[in-house]
Amino acid sequence: MAVPFRSPVGLVSGPRGVRAVPVDGSGTPKEVVRPPESLVGVFPPVYPEWLGDRDFLVRHGCRFPYVVGEMARGIASAEMVVASARAGFMAFFGSAGLTISSVDEGITAIQSELGPTIRNWGANLIHSPQEPHMEMEFAELMLARGVTNISASAFMRLAPAVVYLSAKGLHRDANGAIRRRTHIFGKVSRVEVARPFMSPAPDSLLMPLVSQGLISDQEAALARQVPVAGDITVEADSGGHTDNRPLSVLLPLILSLAAECAREHGFASPARVGAGGGLGTPAALAAAFAAGAAYVVTGSVNQATLESALSPDGRAMLALASSTDVAMAPAADMFEMGVEVQVLKRGTLFAQRGKELYKVFRTYPSIEAIPDRVRSALENNVLGRPIDDIWDDTREFFLRRDPPQLERAEADPKHRMALVFRWYLFMGAQWARSGEVTRRADYQIWCGPAMGAFNEWVKGSFLEPVENRSVVQVGLNLLEGAAHVTRVQQLRLAGVPRRPEDLEFSPRPLR
Ligand SMILES: Cc1cc2nc3c(=O)[nH]c(=O)nc-3n(C[C@H](O)[C@H](O)[C@H](O)COP(=O)(O)O)c2cc1C
Repeated sequence: MAVPFRSPVGLVSGPRGVRAVPVDGSGTPKEVVRPPESLVGVFPPVYPEWLGDRDFLVRHGCRFPYVVGEMARGIASAEMVVASARAGFMAFFGSAGLTISSVDEGITAIQSELGPTIRNWGANLIHSPQEPHMEMEFAELMLARGVTNISASAFMRLAPAVVYLSAKGLHRDANGAIRRRTHIFGKVSRVEVARPFMSPAPDSLLMPLVSQGLISDQEAALARQVPVAGDITVEADSGGHTDNRPLSVLLPLILSLAAECAREHGFASPARVGAGGGLGTPAALAAAFAAGAAYVVTGSVNQATLESALSPDGRAMLALASSTDVAMAPAADMFEMGVEVQVLKRGTLFAQRGKELYKVFRTYPSIEAIPDRVRSALENNVLGRPIDDIWDDTREFFLRRDPPQLERAEADPKHRMALVFRWYLFMGAQWARSGEVTRRADYQIWCGPAMGAFNEWVKGSFLEPVENRSVVQVGLNLLEGAAHVTRVQQLRLAGVPRRPEDLEFSPRPLR
């Protein structure tokens, strides 16, 4: 029989083993079962809505335990957030890398579409070591605009802006329970980073906020009784910034840490732990839920959807990727520290060229020290422009955006070289966004192996053509498929033999 998951399934045991039979709503088999066979059990329906923590759904007003992850520079666009929230997903606007006024524009667009009552969406507070003032400005904007979900990412330790957002507005409801105004989703890929997010905010961060008049004594007192983040997103090997860690290693570690922190601090319930990174097929989602994820997060697969702000050219390239068509490349924001991001390899030379720049950066103390031969090779084969022209543009940009960078560059020639090389890394992402096809070989498209896994799964289905990929159909099909895989696994555990084709779930238009 086909494997139904939205209706109950009966288990019939007999001399030849266990088999599954369709049953009606009262659990009565729809086909005749004669001795020596007998009905030994009935499995209730498996709904995609129920795969994760029900508490997550209630707390955030979601229908599904499914999060559309933030994608920087508005790639997770206002349109993507609106469509996802309406479908019952949680979704985060890609606010990283945007100016505060562009973030405000995006938030306003979302709020004018969704209105004040729909709350299953938020924005991304990204750690900004290059522009530390941005974190507090972002926090102020979120509070002013009433955004109630914040995904805090790339932090290696807690920062004032995270604690401010977490503590501001904490209060007790009529039953005495502590309620949050802002829900922090702490995105982590290391145990040592997860722990402070799962613990109460320390006084070293709370007290300065109190003395600056940003939070009250009462808010600080309540902040000492709850974890900074009620939700922790475990991010395994993913598109963009990643430690390339396997989800199967990281998720169990952080789940047990959540339980440990709850015990240690006497929380009524542990932080909810969600899973992201590498989720591009129903089986991957089902595995994450089976391992205990409260919710799942996708990123790469959404970048190829209609609502993504990536250019159609870039999206078409993503739709051709296989799971091995990815590579690590230097990150624009933390280039000097040697931090890398995972990007698409097929159809672009960005990863190779970025690495070449990093090699030159490590080798020479300044632009002037680069030998002529190396410099002209860089200008002709990588940058596509004379370094002097790039510096002129770079200077103009930082004059507007961040003048102290220029003072540093004047004093430190290596920093000037970094700013020039970062121009290329920054523009690689811009060209991919705007579809500058003459620079296709320089497109920087953040992408993890999940993209290729997704492409393989949807082959031959309505989701294969990139023009049919909406963020909602992608999410609904992944969830529906995960429910199917979960049912197959349930039956296997009960002794029903599994045929290879039982696991197949082909995408279909869903509502
Ligand atoms: C194009 C792109 C941009 C991203 N930008 C951000 C970002 O600005 N902030 C962040 O926390 N995560 C960012 N991510 C990570 C996603 O939110 C999500 O956690 C991740 O993509 C999930 O892993 P996956 O790519 O394997 O699906 C980005 C991912 C992609 C693919």
